Amino acid sequence: MKQITITLLSMTLLVLTACQPKATLVHQTDEPFRSVYHHSPAQFWMNDPNGMFYDEASQLWHLYYQHNPFGTTWGPMHWAHATSSDLVHWEQHPIALEPDSIGTIFSGSIVIDRHNTAGFGENAIVAIFTQSEVCGQHQSIAYSLDGGMTFTKYAGNPVLKGNIADFRDPKVTWDELAGKWIMTLACQQEIRFYSSADLKSWDYESSFGTGLGAHGGVWECPELLKLQVTDAQSQMATEKYVLLVSINPGGPFGGSATQYFVGEWNGHCFTCTDTPDETKWLDYGKDNYSTFTWHNAPEGRIVSLGWMSNWQYAEVLPTVTFRSQNTIARELSLYTDDAGAYRVRVIPSPEFMALKGAKAHRLADVAIVELTLSGTESSVVTLSNDKGEKVMMNLDVHRRTFSMDRTASGDCSFSTEFAAHTTTPLFVKQDTYRVILFIDHCSIEAFDANGYWAMTNLVFPSEPYNKVEVEGGNATIYDVNI
Ligand code: FRU
Repeated sequence: MKQITITLLSMTLLVLTACQPKATLVHQTDEPFRSVYHHSPAQFWMNDPNGMFYDEASQLWHLYYQHNPFGTTWGPMHWAHATSSDLVHWEQHPIALEPDSIGTIFSGSIVIDRHNTAGFGENAIVAIFTQSEVCGQHQSIAYSLDGGMTFTKYAGNPVLKGNIADFRDPKVTWDELAGKWIMTLACQQEIRFYSSADLKSWDYESSFGTGLGAHGGVWECPELLKLQVTDAQSQMATEKYVLLVSINPGGPFGGSATQYFVGEWNGHCFTCTDTPDETKWLDYGKDNYSTFTWHNAPEGRIVSLGWMSNWQYAEVLPTVTFRSQNTIARELSLYTDDAGAYRVRVIPSPEFMALKGAKAHRLADVAIVELTLSGTESSVVTLSNDKGEKVMMNLDVHRRTFSMDRTASGDCSFSTEFAAHTTTPLFVKQDTYRVILFIDHCSIEAFDANGYWAMTNLVFPSEPYNKVEVEGGNATIYDVNI
C-alpha cells in the first residue's frame, strides 16, 4: 500500500508562484460558508435556477432564480436575476418578476423570440413561468425588450390554466420537428408536452412517465434535450433525446435528485427507448437538483446548472444571511457504457477548468484537485482539516463503485438526513481513473474526468480542509490548485 499525503498549505505557495494567474477572484465573503466560485444569492433564500439564456450581443450569461426576498427560507417566490461574462463571477440585478393577483412566480424558462411569433417584437426575450396560488398552478408569460433586465407581464395571463395542484415548471424550446414551440411541464408524476405557434395559446400534445423511472415523489423541472453521442470506433456522432426530470422526494440517497430518460422525440411525443427499466440519475450525490440548461448557449454548447441543495434540509443549512448556492456549470452530452446503455456525460464547463491557477485572495478559496487512481487496486482519498473533520472517498475497483462519506465532514447536526454516504457505479471500466474534485467552502463536486459520473455533496467543516491523503492504488495527485 502506498500512501500519499499532501498538505494543501505547503502546496499553495508552490502552485501560486509556478502558475501565471489566469483570473482574479473577487471575494464576496460575509460568512464562512459563502461559496467563492459558485453562484449564490447576495442575500436571502434561493432555490431552482430559472430562465437561463445567453445573450450574444452583450456576451452575458443570464441567470434568474427562485428567490424569497423577505427571508432565508422558502416563501413568496420571485425571480431574482444575475449575469456573468464567464459563469464564475456574477453581478446581482434587481428582481425580474414579482408575484401578482394570479400568483407567486415559480420556476420556468426563457426563449429569444427571433421571429416575433408572440408579437412583442423581434428578438424579444420571453419568459414562461408558473404562477402558483391556492386554487392551482398556471403558466404565464412576460417579455423584455431590454435584453432581459426588465419584464412586462402579458395582459392575457395566464396562458395555460391548470386545475391540479402540481402543474408547473414550463421549459420551452423551438422544436424543428414540430415547427412550433414545445413546452415540457411537470404534472404530478408525469411530464406533459404542449405546443404553440405564438407562446400565447397552447395545445396538449402528449404525456410521458407512467410506469417509468422513479416515482417516490412529485416530478418537477423537466427539460427535453437533444444530446450528441460519438461512437468510440467510427467517431460518428449521432443524436438522441434526453428528458431530464427532477423528483422530490424519491432520490437515490433520500430527498431530491434529477433522473433522466434517453429515447426518441417525434415532434409530439417522447418515448424512452434506451433501458427503460432502469432509473438513471444525473448526479450520484445528494445535492444537485432542478438542473436546467442555458437557452442559446454559444457554439452549440449544452451548459447546465443545478441547485446545489436538497429539499430535505435546504431551509436549515448553517448559513446566516443567505441560503443555497448553485453547482458549477457543467456541459452535457451522451456516451455508451460498458453494457451499451446511453448515459449522460457530465463535464465541468471549461470556464471552471480555467480556474486552475486562479489567484485567490485567501488560502483555501479555490481548490481543484486532480487525481489518477489505479484501475486494478482500490484507493481511499481523504480530505481533512486540523480539527479531524474529514470526507472519505473510496474508489472500489472490485465492486466498481466510487463513494463519498460525509458522516464526519463537519457540522451535520442541523438535520438527521444530512450525514450521508453516496455511491455511483463506475459505468465504464478504465485502466486508470482520473477524478477531479472541485472543493469550495461548503461543497465537494467529484467528476470522473471522462464525464462518466458526477457526485455533488455539501459539507460544513468548522475550518477548511487543508489536507488530501490517498491510500492504495498507486495514486498520483497531479494537480492541486488553491
Ligand atoms: C422545485 C420546485 C419547483 C417549483 C419551485 C418553487 O424545487 O418545487 O417545482 O416551481 O421549486 O419554488
